[in-house]
Amino acid sequence: MKKVTTTVLKKMKRENEKISMLTAYDCPTAKIMDDAEVDVILVGDSLGMVVLGYNDTIKVTVEDIIHHTSAVSRGAKRCMIVADMPFLSYHQGKYNSVKNAGRLIQEGNANAVKLEGGVEIIEDIKAIINAGIPVMGHLGLTPQSVNKIGGYYIQGKSVEEAEKIIADAVALEKAGVFSIVLECVPCELSKAITDRLSIPTIGIGAGKCCDGQVLVTNDLLGSYQGHIPKFVKQYENIGEKTKNAVEEYIKEVKNGQFPEECHEFHSKELEKIE
Ligand code: KIV
Repeated sequence: MKKVTTTVLKKMKRENEKISMLTAYDCPTAKIMDDAEVDVILVGDSLGMVVLGYNDTIKVTVEDIIHHTSAVSRGAKRCMIVADMPFLSYHQGKYNSVKNAGRLIQEGNANAVKLEGGVEIIEDIKAIINAGIPVMGHLGLTPQSVNKIGGYYIQGKSVEEAEKIIADAVALEKAGVFSIVLECVPCELSKAITDRLSIPTIGIGAGKCCDGQVLVTNDLLGSYQGHIPKFVKQYENIGEKTKNAVEEYIKEVKNGQFPEECHEFHSKELEKIE
């Protein structure tokens, strides 16, 4: 078993091997993914929406991410585990940014952290990397800024916007991030960034030119009942399968079909009791 590290991911880019990344928030799912040999598990703050039932990612706390990352780390041994730094956990001075990133590594057992933003958070990113913590960047649509952006829209459609995102990507690479997530940007832009950088880009709604792809697992499996974006490919419909199984169970409990003989325990001695 060869552990996936930042060096492995950079080598994959050099050798044109695509990187697979998925989100996970619990131990059993992480184990299944690790056994399937996914390269990277992201304990994303999408946790807030797909697991905790919030409308957005804003309410997710450092404690939430630590709790779920440590569960994931008990299931996944081979893949790299990246923990999202939640809203406002890296906007209150470098000291706090390093402290919060350190907690995700020490208490959550993450291998790296992910931060949303470009040049405006570059000093925080440098401070975290200087503390020995690998950082993954996140540009394009940054859901923690949904209130500022005004919704979940494609970013970088105009030349001016695209140039800003390219400048951010170049600055992040220079600061030492090992990879960058590009979310909801035109393919022309993700290609320009991917060609320009020596670190891997991981796309979500950013087309096939990126060095890797990430999806929210609950979207891919069809277990999330909320809005499913256009860029998601749904590989299963676990939500429907779960509902069918639960309805079957309820029916069998009500009509006495479950439990059956094979599910019961018996005691010879107790047979004598009247
Ligand atoms: O929180 C998350 O799941 C993410 C992915 C969408 C990249 O940041």
